[in-house]
This record gives sequence, C-alpha cells and structure tokens, in this order.
Amino acid sequence: VMIVTLAACGAGKNEETGSGSAKEYIVATDASYAPFESLTEKNEFIGFDIELVKAVAEKGGINIKIVNTPWEGMFATLNNGDRDLLVSAITITDERKKEYDFSDPYFEARQSMAVPNNTSIKNFAELKGKKVGVQTGTTGDEVVSKLMGADSKDIRRFETTPLALKELENGGVDAVVADNGVVKYYVKNNPDKGFKTIDEPLFAAEYYGFVMKKGNTELMGKINDGLKKIKEDGTYDAIYNKYFGE
Ligand code: ARG
Repeated sequence: VMIVTLAACGAGKNEETGSGSAKEYIVATDASYAPFESLTEKNEFIGFDIELVKAVAEKGGINIKIVNTPWEGMFATLNNGDRDLLVSAITITDERKKEYDFSDPYFEARQSMAVPNNTSIKNFAELKGKKVGVQTGTTGDEVVSKLMGADSKDIRRFETTPLALKELENGGVDAVVADNGVVKYYVKNNPDKGFKTIDEPLFAAEYYGFVMKKGNTELMGKINDGLKKIKEDGTYDAIYNKYFGE
C-alpha cells in the first residue's frame, strides 16, 4: 500500500486524535485512470488528481494518506468509515449527490470514445448494434446504457478502464467509452495500436468533485478552502498545465 503523508499544518480544535497528532484522512483512488490517477513502475501514485489532492490538503491544513481502492465499492467505503475522501476523477451527478457530498467542482470533462482508425463508427448514435466497452458504474456506462438500453448484451462492462481498452486491442469490442481526458491520453500514448478519438460535443459537460460522506462538513470546509486557495495562488493552473497544457 502506497503511503503519502503531508505535513501537519496545526491540528484544528475539533481534531479527534490524541497526543497532539493531527488526524490523517484516508483518500481512495482507483489508480488505473491516467492521466488523473495511476501507479508508476515503482508503485508510486502519479497524476493530475494526485498532485491536486496533495496541494489541496496542504493548503487546507490536513494530513492525507492515499490508498489504491477498486472503483466498484469505492463509494461504500465512505459509509463504513474505511475511507474519508474519494479522489478519482469522479463526476458530480444528481444521483450520487443524493447519497454523498461533493466538493466544489475542480475539472470539466465529457464522454468520448476510442475506436480503431478504420472503424465505420462516426458518432455516438452509431454505437447502437456495436459492442461497446465501459468501466462498470461510470458515467460512460450511464451514457452507453441510455443509448443502447442498460440490458443490452452489446455493452461489455469491465472493472477498470484499462481492461476495457485491452478488449478493444483484442477486437472484442468496437469502441470504448470513457472520460475524454483518459481516452485522449490513451490514444496519444499508444500510437502503435491504431486508435482514434471520437468526441460528442453535444453531450453535456461533466464536472469532477471530491466525494465525502454526507454531513462531513468539517472535512468539506477544509477541502473547499484548500481548493479555493490553490486556484487563487496559481498552483491549480500549474498542475493543470503540466497535464493538459499544450
Ligand atoms: N468520471 C467518471 C465517473 O465519475 C469516471 C470515473 C472513473 N475513475 C476512475 N479512477 N476509474 O463515473
């Protein structure tokens, strides 16, 4: 298990841990979603979300420990107390907001698809009747379920997005639908695979947020405070440009 600990910036008066040591918040991420969160060969966390949450924690004055956590079941770890915060390129949706609290939005995304260069598919509507790979329970899954019917046998659901992309390489699916940043990164960094990206400008924008257990106002305040500070002092832009600048 990778451990990332940040300097304590003074324990708050509501700190529950004793002996003067500040509480350590456990952050869950599904580190199979480059360029947002992934693992290096040395098993170190890397990515936009990773750098962002470290900066937010530092400015918000909290200690964090990042723990690799499977996407499926990730939300439930908030309610059973295993994790305090989810940072995993998670889209703020009305459905999720019913059960969990989200921070202020920190990133804009859209659904996109990876397809072979020689595909006949020209847009999302043409996915009907094709085999489509998605990561289970993601907004990509939701969009494809809406297009093709949630019970469609042509939807192939995978535990991780890389597994869906593997299936595209193997020819088992005709397209993979996921967040645009991830699809673009994969296509660009695997030029030998012969894939391209198809965007759908008509789809509504999605916004990523950090997720907390409902009512965790103390952590929420610190996270939003840290987020605001790094947006004001240029840290956010520096991290953004590192990963998404031209
Ligand atoms: N943004 C999408 C969603 O919220 C996909 C997130 C997947 N993240 C990951 N680390 N696998 O459903």
